[in-house]
Amino acid sequence: MKKPQRAFACTQCGAQHAKWSGQCSACEAWNSLTEEVVADAASSPRFQHYAGKAQEVTSLRDVSVENTPRTSSGMQELDRVLGGGLVAGSVILIGGDPGIGKSTLLLQALSLLSAKQAVLYVSGEESLQQISLRASRLELSAGDIQLFAETQVETILEKTKQLKPRLLVIDSIQTMHTQLLQSAPGSVGQVRDSAAQFVRFAKQTNTTLFLVGHVTKDGALAGPRVLEHMVDTVLYFEGERSGRLRLLRSIKNRFGAVNELGVFAMSGEGLREVTNPSAIFLSNTREKLPGSIIMATWEGTRPLLVEVQALVDQSNSGNPRRVTVGLEQNRLAMLLAVLNRHAGVACFDQDVFVNAVGGVRIVETAADLPLLIAVMSSLRQWCLPPDLLAFGEVGLAGEIRPVQNGQERLKEAAKQGFKFAIIPKANCPKKAPAGMQVMGIQRLSEVMDLLRERVVEPKN
Ligand code: TYD
Ligand code: MG
Repeated sequence: MKKPQRAFACTQCGAQHAKWSGQCSACEAWNSLTEEVVADAASSPRFQHYAGKAQEVTSLRDVSVENTPRTSSGMQELDRVLGGGLVAGSVILIGGDPGIGKSTLLLQALSLLSAKQAVLYVSGEESLQQISLRASRLELSAGDIQLFAETQVETILEKTKQLKPRLLVIDSIQTMHTQLLQSAPGSVGQVRDSAAQFVRFAKQTNTTLFLVGHVTKDGALAGPRVLEHMVDTVLYFEGERSGRLRLLRSIKNRFGAVNELGVFAMSGEGLREVTNPSAIFLSNTREKLPGSIIMATWEGTRPLLVEVQALVDQSNSGNPRRVTVGLEQNRLAMLLAVLNRHAGVACFDQDVFVNAVGGVRIVETAADLPLLIAVMSSLRQWCLPPDLLAFGEVGLAGEIRPVQNGQERLKEAAKQGFKFAIIPKANCPKKAPAGMQVMGIQRLSEVMDLLRERVVEPKN
């Protein structure tokens, strides 16, 4: 008998190496190589193409552009993140921490969809009783959902071919294993080849496929990164486990925009959609406190109002701390330098902590101006009025640069009752929204005067 061939695969990029080493030479990740048995090359699904049927070469002009038909999942927020609904034959990978609500979300969506089309939920983690218990807790009309508790890829595909569902859920891909390989479920090879078989099946039969994926300790999808390349859409389900809010974010989408955000709240009866989330991160009773300001950030296709807080405190070490939560650390250091140089506010002997309240992550540059205002406000003990809003990018020359969708951000803030807005001059609308005073600025130095003269009220 031929001795099985062994190799070492990188759990990050999937590259194979003949020998073990501490670092993967392909992607330079450390401690990511694990041993596995190499399958017979010819039988491996890796060597068959994913697109399903063999294709002819076609000129782009001749490709018929029939509108990609989309099926609503019955949940608006899920549809929004997917780019307007489910596309037949598309493969969606959904990742998130354990217990965040991935199975709950999919079960709820399936229950709504099962009224319209045949759906199959394959669970490799929970027993049928556990799923049924959850369904009854969610008060779902789960009668039409076909359930299958199985982890063997070939068996699942055989059953699926008989049942012909329009939608297939695999919960989770890390529990699946294929006969083609001898390594344990969850190993790089198993995850990759199992996923490849499911993806090929989905493409061939035009079935919509949801793959649930585990995440690693640092929040990336576990298993090889190639998984992300194999699928059409990658969604992350995130949120603070102790809190109620859950955010569904698209990281990659071949059928829609990325960075689209869906907002849900976890309740006793499962996930509820939050359809107007612009103000969910604001507290109802807003006090005048130094070091806090509201900004309007842009998430996907809509504005979101978020509180940015700063605490500036005398530093006891020669190397003052710069700590950010939900904002970019390097950007803070850069902005403090700009603040010193162009507005004459020095923080070199101060520890600076900034926080985007509510566990939100803000990646856009529109947070620059509110961040600096919060820092100034904390440093000077200025109480800013609670109905003050700010957004804008700050350049290295101390200039305030415009951001995208300024008008929509203002409009949303006005709707939520904000009275003053400090924004980039270039973002100023011809006519301010009703009830709102808009102050456009061009230089960072103007902010100080503006705050001192117009908005700040003495701390009592
Ligand atoms: P689950 O969907 O099992 O998470 P995942 O599949 O991502 O691991 O999430 C279950 C969590 O949600 C669990 O901690 C309990 C909570 N939960 C509720 O608060 N309300 C509910 O109605 C349900 C079904 C779950
Ligand atoms: Mg689960």
